[in-house]
Amino acid sequence: MRDHSSTLLLFGATGDLSRRMLLPSLYALHADGLIHPALRIFCTARSALTDEAFRDMARGALCEFLPDDRKAEGLIDAFLLRLHYVALDASNPDGFTELAATIGDISGGLSIFLSTAPSLFEATIKGLHYAGLSGENVRIGLEKPLGNDLASSCHINDAVNAVFPEKRTFRIDHYLGKETVQNLMALRFANMLFEPLWNANAIEHVQITVSETVGLEGRAGFYDDTGALRDMVQNHMLQLLALTAMEPPASLDATAIRDEKVKVLRALRPVAEGDVVTGKYIEGAVQGDAVKSYESDLGKASDTETFVAIKAYVDNWRWQGVPFFLRTGKRLPERRSEIVIQFKPVPHNVFRDRGGKLEANTLIIRLQPEEYVRLLVMAKEPGLDRGGVTLREVPLDLSLTAAFAGSRRRIAYERLLLDLIEGDQTLFVRRDEVEAQWAWIDAIRALWNVTALKPKAYGAGSWGPNAAIALTERDGVSWHE
Ligand code: BG6
Repeated sequence: MRDHSSTLLLFGATGDLSRRMLLPSLYALHADGLIHPALRIFCTARSALTDEAFRDMARGALCEFLPDDRKAEGLIDAFLLRLHYVALDASNPDGFTELAATIGDISGGLSIFLSTAPSLFEATIKGLHYAGLSGENVRIGLEKPLGNDLASSCHINDAVNAVFPEKRTFRIDHYLGKETVQNLMALRFANMLFEPLWNANAIEHVQITVSETVGLEGRAGFYDDTGALRDMVQNHMLQLLALTAMEPPASLDATAIRDEKVKVLRALRPVAEGDVVTGKYIEGAVQGDAVKSYESDLGKASDTETFVAIKAYVDNWRWQGVPFFLRTGKRLPERRSEIVIQFKPVPHNVFRDRGGKLEANTLIIRLQPEEYVRLLVMAKEPGLDRGGVTLREVPLDLSLTAAFAGSRRRIAYERLLLDLIEGDQTLFVRRDEVEAQWAWIDAIRALWNVTALKPKAYGAGSWGPNAAIALTERDGVSWHE
């Protein structure tokens, strides 16, 4: 059921996320006629700017971050005219009264997108409430970070839920807006082929990799306080794991899907000592470019992990004994997000006496940079086989880019902003999910403290410390590379 808001209010509108993602996404929705022509867009941040000055900033962001084929002068001009700017100091409640007066009538519904410093969260929520911008027809989207452990996340969620009940709270994990992530559900639940095999009887292990070539990208302070485990595993990777491992939901309804995901998150077994490896990049070369070490980028010594690899288990019937190997890191050799499902070998090789060697099937779901689903299957090499049968692994390829060449590829925030404006919570993270994620992550961090685990050095441009290779090799598994 769609319930459109007639007003959108963006906090943190001059920030990096806004310039890179939110403004270009809103522009794309505007250009394609996907947001109502009457939708009013108010943007706010601390800087004192006029509407004109803000629009100039927004124009600069669109020029910088929109792909060239999306830049249409007339459309950009029309879009910018939709943007209104209100300067606001979130720590001063009176500013919210002025904001509410500028926005005026919100009887058509208000969607708020909050991407501000975590320290301003509570003051902003209180200010909104104080100014009457939190009623029944107001919903709020929250961008991470929402806390840095279970306790602080509960604290923020309590503050939010005191004003916005859960059904009007939209917690963003931008991975859920990615096309191939949703294709994972299509693959699993729109095809007969996979689901009967999607369990411990047929699957030997699962790998989830989110590798990045970038380093700190101007976020040194935030990153050093956060580290790879909390920056990437707590949210994006656990959501990918939950979508991979969940039971089929009864429908695509937000509650049905989130109920299934939270069961997986709660079934995560506490990670054992030795089943987690952390790393910190030292100087090296990424894709041919020499790069400095993490500590040089940061300007000080640090024990924050820029890489983490974990062997995880989901303790339920479906996944008993199946390791889920997770790894993510900065300054790795390539940018790649993928889920690899490794099936078990066939129980008996009928080709053995004729020399045929078999590989077990592998399913690769690549989310980025390319989008494809690839199933590696065994096939016989053509020939009369007088010297024996030669079997070879060949890919059954579904390139989503090629199969849907005519469709526009959309960035995750286009979908998520539209879902927020239309009130669809399916791709937003529910409070119980976030808390189950933090509980598991906190236990890992507690283990690090007890065992005094320090990140191991890895050269920038490598796949992490050697110990990450040993983590899988112990089980006779190689990382998919
Ligand atoms: C963010 C992290 O949530 O996700 C960043 O804070 C990371 O450190 C980013 O670079 C990765 O997102 P994407 O969409 O580029 O894979």
